[in-house]
Amino acid sequence: MSADRVSPDRKTIFVGKTICRLVAVAPWTWPVVRGAVGRFFDQAATGWDERTEAGSPEHLATLAGGLDAIPARPERVLDLGCGTGAGTLFLAREFPTASVRGLDLSPEMIAKAQAKIGLDPDARVSFRSGDASSLPYGDNSFDLVAQINMPVFFREIERVLRPGGGLVIASSLGDSTPFSTPEKLVRRKLASHGFDHVYSGAASEGTWVAATLEEPR
Ligand SMILES: C[S@@+](CC[C@H](N)C(=O)[O-])C[C@H]1O[C@@H](n2cnc3c(N)ncnc32)[C@H](O)[C@@H]1O
Repeated sequence: MSADRVSPDRKTIFVGKTICRLVAVAPWTWPVVRGAVGRFFDQAATGWDERTEAGSPEHLATLAGGLDAIPARPERVLDLGCGTGAGTLFLAREFPTASVRGLDLSPEMIAKAQAKIGLDPDARVSFRSGDASSLPYGDNSFDLVAQINMPVFFREIERVLRPGGGLVIASSLGDSTPFSTPEKLVRRKLASHGFDHVYSGAASEGTWVAATLEEPR
């Protein structure tokens, strides 16, 4: 970690983790906090990369670790809670033929992400604002869904992921990540949503869980 990174304070960690637990066990409570969360990240968008070191090797190490665990050669990739797009652009570099979508609740975050796209005549990478609790994509739209530091909306992920597709849930500061869900709870929810081959690990300062959606027998 560099001296410039601003570490999350204890209150932020407590509030973020409480939201993630709630979303995992009682997703119907999300609309109660959605407005406040959106406003918080709209305000946080300016200077986000500098404060959090989003896009640094340390920040992306957990996503990379999770990707290594699943045999993914995806053609359609979704980055949920993409923020300023660091993870999305990493996924686009990792999978040079894939179309990669980044989605975030905060229009201000999306504007920062959008500004990072250079000339992309094939529109291989694109960003849009939206809510991971009701994704603007059809069933089986993606072969890989990834997210860094974001509450997990299991039902929607299961819906938009094709059977056999991969999921990576990365927490770049491990247990100290404000938006992180305990691994035990993640594993329980993954099992109840039809995921198998669940792996987990640590990389840099963070942790990841990776899984594949069961294929019909
Ligand atoms: C802690 S930030 C992480 C951003 C980025 N993934 C990164 O690692 O730099 C969490 C992001 O998730 C977004 N977010 C929170 N809830 C969301 C939801 N239900 N749907 C889409 N994005 C959401 C926030 O707007 C914010 O940009």
